[in-house]
Amino acid sequence: MGNFSSKRENIKRPPSDILEAADFIVRGGIGGVPTETVYGLAADATNPDAVRKIFEAKGRPFIDPLIVHVCDMEMARKVAEFTPEAEKLAAEFWPGPLTMVLKKTPLIPDITTAGMDTVAVRMPSHPAMLGLIRASKPIAAPSANPFGYVSPTCAEHVRSMLGGKIDFVIDGGECACGVESTIVLMVSSPKKLLRPGPIPPEEIARALGEELDVSPKVNEAHPQAPGMLKSHYSPKSRLTLFSDAAEIPDGFAGNAIYLARPAEPKKNEYWLSENGDLAEAAKNLFALIRKLDAEGKDIFCQKPPLSGIGLAIADRLGRAETKH
Ligand code: TXA
Ligand code: MG
Repeated sequence: MGNFSSKRENIKRPPSDILEAADFIVRGGIGGVPTETVYGLAADATNPDAVRKIFEAKGRPFIDPLIVHVCDMEMARKVAEFTPEAEKLAAEFWPGPLTMVLKKTPLIPDITTAGMDTVAVRMPSHPAMLGLIRASKPIAAPSANPFGYVSPTCAEHVRSMLGGKIDFVIDGGECACGVESTIVLMVSSPKKLLRPGPIPPEEIARALGEELDVSPKVNEAHPQAPGMLKSHYSPKSRLTLFSDAAEIPDGFAGNAIYLARPAEPKKNEYWLSENGDLAEAAKNLFALIRKLDAEGKDIFCQKPPLSGIGLAIADRLGRAETKH
């Protein structure tokens, strides 16, 4: 764990932590890093031995490629071949929660992209993460959770799950978005939404001035983004989704999650946002599921409306839902 397991909270820019973490990265180490979406598990994206440690610590299959994080366009163009459309989206949405899948350059080793000739690239907006990249290398970072479990949205989630297996955790406070970045496949025609996230597909289509395929058929044997596998982000407790509270059985003894505060909440009723604000609901989603999962009781969770970031919430809940 190095010297980074201190209890400091909400430190947005801890420069000495960043420099020490950068030193671990340059020497082939791995560690937990804050981003505006979720916490990542970072390694030098250009170092195959370091990247292998990420897969091992997460228990992630080697067929599942990683996102490469960059701090500026100069670095971005060193890891991927930027098309004019990609330049346009970068100018509009970076730094921010958009990941673009583009042709990779030889700088990125096969293990990082699981042998694919494309690479997923993103420029995050969290200042600590940008500072870390600037002080080290392009950084490969999947979400810092054991494979298949919900993503971490604060440093403590990372420490509790991976603490013994990593070199450092940078505490950058709670993640602002709470769900993973929007992923767009830029090398297909039409371009495809591979994973809904904080930036809604309509905004991307508008910025591109062209249609975006928002419901690509997922081939489960050869998923373009294994995060698209139906069962992912799964809590251990049984999770069932509902549209109407009347669907919750009488005498239900587990926990219920609502989007907004119920008029007269009972002891086992929780809410993601006081007034049902979807951005706030996304921010709180994984932390609440994680907290209730620790109780081990069945969970009923309300489905969000399918617009804006509601699409991303619905996507993650759909994958976390227990399949009967
Ligand atoms: O917000 C995020 O994107 C976070 C933070 C840490 O940046 N990262 C994240 O990484 O969610 P991860 O590994 O949990 O999810 C990345 C997804 C995976 O589903 C992976 O299959 C897909 O991106 N992916 C990566 N490279 C790809 C490629 N070349 N083609 C298609 N999908 C790719
Ligand atoms: Mg993940």
